[in-house]
Amino acid sequence: MIRYISDTEPINKRVLLRVDFNVSLHGDYTIADDARIRQSLPTIKLLLQNHNKPILLSHLDRPKGRDPNLSLAKVAEQLQSYLPGYTVTLVKDFITDRSAIDKQKEDELLMLENIRYYEGEKKNDPTFAASLASLAEIYVDDAFAVCHREDASVVGVPRLLPSYGGLLLQKEIEAMDLLLDNPQHPFLAILAGAKISTKLPLIHKLLPLVDMLLLGGGLANTLLRAKGIQIGKSICEPELLPEAKTVLEEAKEKLILPIDALVGKSPEDPEPVNKPIDIIQPEDMILDIGEETRRLFGEAISQAKTIVWNGPVGYFENPIYRQGSKFICKAITGNTEATSVVGGGETLAAIAGSGELDKITHISTGGGAMLEYLEKGSLPGIDALNTK
Ligand code: 3PG
Repeated sequence: MIRYISDTEPINKRVLLRVDFNVSLHGDYTIADDARIRQSLPTIKLLLQNHNKPILLSHLDRPKGRDPNLSLAKVAEQLQSYLPGYTVTLVKDFITDRSAIDKQKEDELLMLENIRYYEGEKKNDPTFAASLASLAEIYVDDAFAVCHREDASVVGVPRLLPSYGGLLLQKEIEAMDLLLDNPQHPFLAILAGAKISTKLPLIHKLLPLVDMLLLGGGLANTLLRAKGIQIGKSICEPELLPEAKTVLEEAKEKLILPIDALVGKSPEDPEPVNKPIDIIQPEDMILDIGEETRRLFGEAISQAKTIVWNGPVGYFENPIYRQGSKFICKAITGNTEATSVVGGGETLAAIAGSGELDKITHISTGGGAMLEYLEKGSLPGIDALNTK
């Protein structure tokens, strides 16, 4: 059982709040998308309203040592812009200087510097976890997106302090559990992305639960090839062809694969051609779903009552090959009867700016965490919060 702050509102406490502010960055390390900051605001505001003193913990990317480009200073600044009336202070090193923590005022939020600057974080070092725990009276986890990692701030600290789930964590868990335990039928899953290897366990897990399974992207290429279809120079994982054949057999009643594709000579090709899937030439690369596939997928999506989507169906880095993913997004939001859950950093990057995101029932902040939760029904960071 997880105690959530929505049920037992902590009051007047020093709170270590684990958030996932691992925001996407531009090449110059400025913030490209601050959705993860915005999604944790309800938890932060609730804690502040109840006169708690929050100390925020987050990682940013995967720094090797104290890389100044990956400082949380820009994140603290962005958070400050959403919290007028409060002061956000970045604590450069809580180990060598605790004065900011001792002097924290009621209207002040502290944010510890990128927690991955510390070696003890990834190692889940018990001494490091204890130093973190010594800063507060309680721990709140609002960082679903990192709950699949066994890091000190994710699994070490909640074992040392009374622990709670935040509002975003609760929302994420409820959305995932609805898919796993109580989906309305027809239940449709769209799985795509470059590699089938990363999604095979999830395909096996979802198969008995869903009514329709739509596959696209590089992941579908491996299955097309296992069916004996020529896929030219398209990405594929040939070592997984035997397993792909098993999937084809197990999923045959539910599986919907692309029937045509937008092909180019390379991912940069500005003049793609729409080709039926059975006439792909040796020099062709499948780079997006084709027009007939859009029609087929769109039709299936329009019939569903529950939809989960993870992974872009085309080479989304090039806007020419992002159109299939945008189409899927529009088809999902066009089905106003369906509950929809969409997640994964690349999926969200592919549909960013489409103006449709608000119409999706739940946008998960998790990529790897979402996949692992759906596969296993829990995550290490969530297990660490469970009270007997
Ligand atoms: C993510 O972006 O998926 C999470 O923040 C986890 O980051 P990580 O893959 O570097 O652990």
